[in-house]
Amino acid sequence: MADAVLVLGACGQIGTELTIRLRSIYGNANVIASDIKEGSKELMESGPFEIIDATDAQKIHEIVRKYQVKKVYLLAAMLSATAEKYPKKAWHLNMTSLSIVLDLAKEKVIDQIYWPSSIAVFGSTSPKVRTPQSTILEPSTVYGISKLSGEYWCNYFHINYGVDVRSLRYPGIVSWKTQPGGGTTDYAVDIYLQAVKEGKYDCFLSEDTRLPMMYMDDAIDATIQLMEAAAEKVKIRTSYNLSGFDCTPKEVAASIKKHMPGFQINYNPDFRQQIADSWPNSIDDSFARTHWNWNHSIDLDEMTNIMLTNIKESVFQL
Ligand code: SER
Repeated sequence: MADAVLVLGACGQIGTELTIRLRSIYGNANVIASDIKEGSKELMESGPFEIIDATDAQKIHEIVRKYQVKKVYLLAAMLSATAEKYPKKAWHLNMTSLSIVLDLAKEKVIDQIYWPSSIAVFGSTSPKVRTPQSTILEPSTVYGISKLSGEYWCNYFHINYGVDVRSLRYPGIVSWKTQPGGGTTDYAVDIYLQAVKEGKYDCFLSEDTRLPMMYMDDAIDATIQLMEAAAEKVKIRTSYNLSGFDCTPKEVAASIKKHMPGFQINYNPDFRQQIADSWPNSIDDSFARTHWNWNHSIDLDEMTNIMLTNIKESVFQL
């Protein structure tokens, strides 16, 4: 039997698709999905599932022992926009869960950890265009503060206790299977759903807000590639910059209009505009590209094609 893998936060936007991919690689029975609530039919029916609150150390220990888990993917987190509403809760969830998993690796109960960071570690004083790996990091959101602190805890545990923890600074992730919840980049998912359902979209960011984005399949590929890379290739143990492409709401709308000429968009920026304005326009991910051969494959127009086709099919099936 292969070493078991535990995914914490398996029912979220990234967790759902990551779990399915991990099951296809390591075998369904070897990948344990967990979350505070049940997830999609595909996720629930394809392998083991446990209800776990990612801040409950005792429960995590119990499940790790039960299945002899050796790798943990920690996807449970409160995202940027929701975290601004519940800052203390966000800090508690984002930091406690990481601390529990890092301790398990320090005690050699588990061998490897994946933990995502985000473009939210950057702030308005960071360079905006092709933001480099190492630069000014002055985040203004509680989500960004938690991710930046987490990155340095990961690095500390790697240096001082030899913990094999790996991390990516995800850009906005776009997908159609499971909706994101509570992020600032979520418009780039909502816009496609509303385009298919209503033919129009009311955007909570202004038309020229440029943000780094990535289609889900690329994000999953990058995650697996990083986790499978030989340890000596993983030279950055805070978190790697990662990028697909960058776009504005206006450019996404133009891409949709190529398929749906009648699509209409209005712009009504809300509190999330300020968060978006503090983040990079684009990311320089050359370390990921040189250290472990990262290469993205999906750009805006291809993503639009995939999103519209799949959403139309799933709406049609309802
Ligand atoms: N997509 C996340 C958010 O918008 C950023 O990592 O909160």
